[in-house]
Amino acid sequence: MFLARLLSLIPFLALPLPSGSLSLSLSQPRQSSLDTFVTSESAVALAGVLANIGPSGAKCEGAASGVVIASPSLTSPDYDYEWIRDASLVNKMLIDRYTQGRDSSLQGTIESWISSMAIIQQVPNPSGNVSTGGLGEPKFNPDMTAFTGAWGRPQRDGPALRATAMMTYASYKLSQGNTSYVQDVLWPSITLDLGYVAQNWNQTGFDLWEELDGSSFFTLLSQYRSLQQAAPLAALYEDAGTASAWQVQADNILCFLQSFWDASSSYTLANINLASTRSGLDANTLLASIHAFDPSAGCDAATFQPCSDQALANHKAVVDSFRSLYSLNSQYAPDAAVAIGRYEEDVYYNGNPWYLATLAAAEQLYSALHTWSSQSSITVTTTSQPFFAQFLSSIQPGTYSSSTSEYGTITSGVQGMADGFVGIVQQYVGPEGGLSEQFDKSSGTPTSAVDLTWSYASFLTMADARAGLVPASWGASSASIPPGACQPGPQPAMVQLTFVEDATTTYGQNLFLTGSISQLSDWSTTDAVALSSSAYPDWQATVAVPAGVSFQYKFIKVEDGQVTWESDPNREYTAPSSGSATIDDTWR
Ligand SMILES: *[C@@H]1O[C@H](CO)[C@@H](O)[C@H](O)[C@H]1NC(C)=O
Ligand SMILES: *[C@@H]1O[C@H](CO)[C@@H](O)[C@H](O)[C@H]1NC(C)=O
Ligand SMILES: *[C@@H]1O[C@H](CO)[C@@H](O)[C@H](O)[C@H]1NC(C)=O
Repeated sequence: MFLARLLSLIPFLALPLPSGSLSLSLSQPRQSSLDTFVTSESAVALAGVLANIGPSGAKCEGAASGVVIASPSLTSPDYDYEWIRDASLVNKMLIDRYTQGRDSSLQGTIESWISSMAIIQQVPNPSGNVSTGGLGEPKFNPDMTAFTGAWGRPQRDGPALRATAMMTYASYKLSQGNTSYVQDVLWPSITLDLGYVAQNWNQTGFDLWEELDGSSFFTLLSQYRSLQQAAPLAALYEDAGTASAWQVQADNILCFLQSFWDASSSYTLANINLASTRSGLDANTLLASIHAFDPSAGCDAATFQPCSDQALANHKAVVDSFRSLYSLNSQYAPDAAVAIGRYEEDVYYNGNPWYLATLAAAEQLYSALHTWSSQSSITVTTTSQPFFAQFLSSIQPGTYSSSTSEYGTITSGVQGMADGFVGIVQQYVGPEGGLSEQFDKSSGTPTSAVDLTWSYASFLTMADARAGLVPASWGASSASIPPGACQPGPQPAMVQLTFVEDATTTYGQNLFLTGSISQLSDWSTTDAVALSSSAYPDWQATVAVPAGVSFQYKFIKVEDGQVTWESDPNREYTAPSSGSATIDDTWR
């Protein structure tokens, strides 16, 4: 059924009809209503994006030329700022439309943004100046001055996403023979951002939701893409040493990215290197996959292509994590699309589904369908089997060519699920097609910031993927993970804890500390942390632990291998988020 619609939208794909008994007639009304919605909402979404871009956007009075505000909402929440991440993703979408010849009116908007970014890059801000880390500043005022309030900074995805958008435009300009614009206007900005990425990817920073200081999968995959995409341009505009140094860091990032895969749970951890107890299931990873989509890279797992077995297993895990989280989702069938939020522990505005997360879940599937169609087959592995079993419960690992009934059943089912996510957005779209940031988890009423630019952009990239209008390749197929061990990636932020225990001991007896985290030897009594008795009867030791980590611990007395434990219960402590602390205890 869905295949018929796909065929009509993408005639050149020439998919064979599956041999199953698909009910065309029953599904027609819903299909055509969804098609109509996608067409009408795409027009609303493009107008919604342009209304938030200065200087002439209808909803962003006072924004400088080229500045993309996140939303016209001025209070509860105040989103009248330009976030580098949001603006770069929005402009990447505009650049794809323009460079694919679909909307020639966008040139001025795109080039105004590029000019404004050259100015903003030079604005000193709380993260530093252009050469001391200021490129990692997450947001600026709409008049391009620095935002100086407290914030989760730096956020290191911004420079990577900005460089990716600008490099996509640079490739187009080169194809038009316009080398001067690339050399004089684009490259000076791009090289600053790529230099920042190459130098700083190995440090932690705040994630795309601006809450966690650690290593974000979205950030690192965006950083990898930017350096990998740079190779052909760096060969033209950089010395050989810089070009090869960037490639070395690209390969190092790709290597580090492989450590986010949690094989035992079969999903990708959204963040590592942080002292959080979150599950790691997060729309961060869906967004990472769609923005790393390369239609020439097949179903490569290392670069987390939408149809890769890891990205599909992760899709199922993330989607399933929202099934029972929102009461609104109880109306949908067990294997059907549901409303998707950021992550299950989210409490922002009480934790609701987001339009852009729900649309990302759809876009990943549409992009996967495109690749399967181009390669005329689907490969099921033991990793992706549970994902595919949602559509064909008997499916076994193997490769299914487009002439098989399995292929037809699966592509129909995947298309149906993807359309289901879009149908949920249709169900809960705001008045006149408005897309806010969130919709209420019980009532579905739009909430938080109105007219979120990123929500509108995510609708347009979803619609493009649904129509088979794919972005240009960025070189993912030449990805290479360096042989041997990875170079060190970012390390978690650490704080120094000084443990002081008042304990009377007998001659020959020594005091040790052991506890529930690796820095406290994971409850080992033989590798426990030794304390010094130089201030007896106070024994003490200083240990570096991850900032913010919660743990349990106890002191032990050891003499000739004989261990005496303190009495129960275990002691508990949560490390501060920065600095140091002293913990005073008395033996018991
Ligand atoms: C950036 O800050 C550093 C350290 O304060 C200073 O040496 C340098 O001149 C500044 N660069 C610019 C472009 O302002
Ligand atoms: C190159 O592109 C810029 C920006 O669009 C334009 O102003 C300029 O006229 C172009 N130059 C040529 C030689 O096409
Ligand atoms: C990160 O990598 C850069 C470039 O190789 C290096 O100069 C820097 O020392 C590294 N920083 C950390 C914290 O490892």
